[in-house]
Amino acid sequence: MKIVFATANPHKVAEVQKLLGGAFEITTPQQLGYAGDIPETGATLQENALQKARFIAEKFGLPCFADDTGLETDALQGAPGVHSARYAGTNKDSAANMQLLLKNLHGAACRTARFRCVIALIIDGQERLFEGVAEGEILTEPQGAQGFGYDPVFRPAGHRRTFAEMSAEEKNRLSHRGKAVTQLVASLREWRMSF
Ligand code: IMP
Repeated sequence: MKIVFATANPHKVAEVQKLLGGAFEITTPQQLGYAGDIPETGATLQENALQKARFIAEKFGLPCFADDTGLETDALQGAPGVHSARYAGTNKDSAANMQLLLKNLHGAACRTARFRCVIALIIDGQERLFEGVAEGEILTEPQGAQGFGYDPVFRPAGHRRTFAEMSAEEKNRLSHRGKAVTQLVASLREWRMSF
């Protein structure tokens, strides 16, 4: 069964497809011929995830989900949070975002942080929200080349390596998105069984 993932991020598509397995095939707005932006102007992760999912669901009339993720640091009172994608400017530059975060945390004694991921699912006109959190800390410099975004500076609690030093499978087992997608998968299975 096809389901639209309202994202333009190929890393996210690869991560989530691994977790969904064979029963659900992800397609993207781009693959359906939509090359424009997906609006994301909410004040919270929930609002953004719902806004993105509603926009794509209305456009294509297909089962659809969207995620929105924020990295929250305790020393910066939860920043960058919902502003994570554009922390260093409007062009969503991951390297610049990471550098700004390291600069703002320079000398901070407390480096604890968490990724929070909210997924909005719209299916048969019904909306559902799922949330996953990964606790960890921000290193003083990037480590590793896998993953994307802030992965090179985020080390999950109880681990020695950053997300960027882990395989996709390892990251998925521990990650905010992995946890939210596990709930998404359960909900999709339940929905399919209701036929
Ligand atoms: P969004 O959910 O695509 O809006 O992501 C917000 C910001 O967090 C962007 O800068 C992403 O690169 C970053 N981000 C989202 N998910 C992850 C992740 O799993 N690891 C590292 N950075 C992420």
